[in-house]
Amino acid sequence: MCGLNGVWVITLLKVLGDKLRKIICLRSLKTRIFLILLIVGLIPCVSMRYAILQSYERRAVNIRTSDITAQLRILANHLLTYHYMQDTSSEVINAELSQLSGLYDGRVMVINSDLRIVKDTYGISENKTIISEEVVRCIKGESDSKYDRDNGYIEMTIPITETVTFSGNAEPEKREIVRGVMLVSASTDSIMATMDTLNRQALIIEVIVMLAILVASVLAAKMLIHPFEKITAALDKAQEGYTDDPISVRDCIETEHIGDAFNRVLGRMKVLDDSRQEFVSNVSHELKTPITSMKVLADSLLAQNDVPIEVYQDFMSDIAGEIEREDKIISDLLSLVKMDRTAADLNIAEVDINVLVELIMRRLRPIAQKRDVELVYESLRPVTAAVDEVKITLVISNLIENAIKYNREHGWVKVTLDADHQFFTVVVADSGIGIPEDSLDQIYERFYRVDKSRSREIGGTGLGLSIAKSAILMHRGSVKVESKVDEGTTFTVKIPLSYIPA
Ligand SMILES: Nc1ncnc2c1ncn2[C@@H]1O[C@H](COP(=O)(O)OP(=O)(O)O)[C@@H](O)[C@H]1O
Ligand SMILES: [Mg+2]
Repeated sequence: MCGLNGVWVITLLKVLGDKLRKIICLRSLKTRIFLILLIVGLIPCVSMRYAILQSYERRAVNIRTSDITAQLRILANHLLTYHYMQDTSSEVINAELSQLSGLYDGRVMVINSDLRIVKDTYGISENKTIISEEVVRCIKGESDSKYDRDNGYIEMTIPITETVTFSGNAEPEKREIVRGVMLVSASTDSIMATMDTLNRQALIIEVIVMLAILVASVLAAKMLIHPFEKITAALDKAQEGYTDDPISVRDCIETEHIGDAFNRVLGRMKVLDDSRQEFVSNVSHELKTPITSMKVLADSLLAQNDVPIEVYQDFMSDIAGEIEREDKIISDLLSLVKMDRTAADLNIAEVDINVLVELIMRRLRPIAQKRDVELVYESLRPVTAAVDEVKITLVISNLIENAIKYNREHGWVKVTLDADHQFFTVVVADSGIGIPEDSLDQIYERFYRVDKSRSREIGGTGLGLSIAKSAILMHRGSVKVESKVDEGTTFTVKIPLSYIPA
């Protein structure tokens, strides 16, 4: 039975401990605000109580000491008048001594110059000799007082001095002669009692103030945190789906800023989401077009009987052309997806760029010849750079291919390679059809083509420049285009000679 109770108590303590830990979670802003306010409120309260009590104690002890000193000085004169040191039977003095010890709840001892106790109001030590340091010092004329806080008394020594006039010399001389000492120990219980009362009253005030601070800090913490709770709720709501309503908590500047920052992030996410959706729909459309053509061609063949072999061959070569186109779109898409991966996938190596450009141009020369476009290469200096060879090949070949494809008859394409100490530059200039100014911003978009039918005719997918731009950005380079319709286009690509990791 007892064991069962023990288990209950332990479980209860555990639950309470968990709850308390949750409430006093230092990572919570609410707890921090609460604790700061509590400490800021409490420290002055407690220190004030201590300061007041200490100053009271000092002052009370000083007053008590000077009171007793004054009384003792009067008494010392009486002692001398009644020759008390020689004869302690004086009732007047004895009454005065017992009145004094009664008044201060203490003990008075009268000691003569031979250090013999002639009177002790406690009646314990009479006729004994006392050789304490203070008494000996007092015999020499030094009065002393000492406050013993732990034992609750003030001890003081006062010399009993007589002024004697010597008239041996021409001028009479007055001298103070110590005839004895009064040793008094007075209790400070009454001071302590007053202090206890004061302390109790101060404590009550302190508890009331503490409670007020507690309530105020809970309210303040709640009030300060409220806007943040509101913004969390707004974010939770936004997380349930992309709402078009912007997050707005105008309670304070900070939450306003948080809301604005989140609205910017959400806006960007929405743009990304829209562009992803647009990309998917573009891909589907581009992939579907060749398939639709193939189906039309195949259906029209199937619908006819006794089709001549020439027609069959004609249609089949069209179908093969569409398949080739589909293949090109898919391989371009794959290149693009590869570019979307992180820079960690880059295969960086030292590459001779002159050799690379020459190789690309040799590969593209047959296409240029077919269109009667002159291909010129000018290399201003030997260049080697740390790049991903495959990706830089894609960049340069896409640009030169475009320059050949979007050219006029008997046109030219000029490729120039140059470098400084930081970058190498490939400039691809052509004498082609040019790009209208309002299209210049869009040419890097996926599937964007200025003239869709012309691009298709030539075999373009609208992905070449976006692949090129991704590869350039992965190398932390830049691309710039200048163009005039019917005059020509110049693309300038700048790539760092050594790869700069993120
Ligand atoms: N050198 C150029 N001269 C004229 N127009 C160009 C040139 N390069 C690109 N363009 C235009 O930019 C569009 C996008 O190019 P790109 O992404 O390579 O796609 P495409 O597969 O059509 O070549 C092209 O369709 C074309 O209209
Ligand atoms: Mg292209």
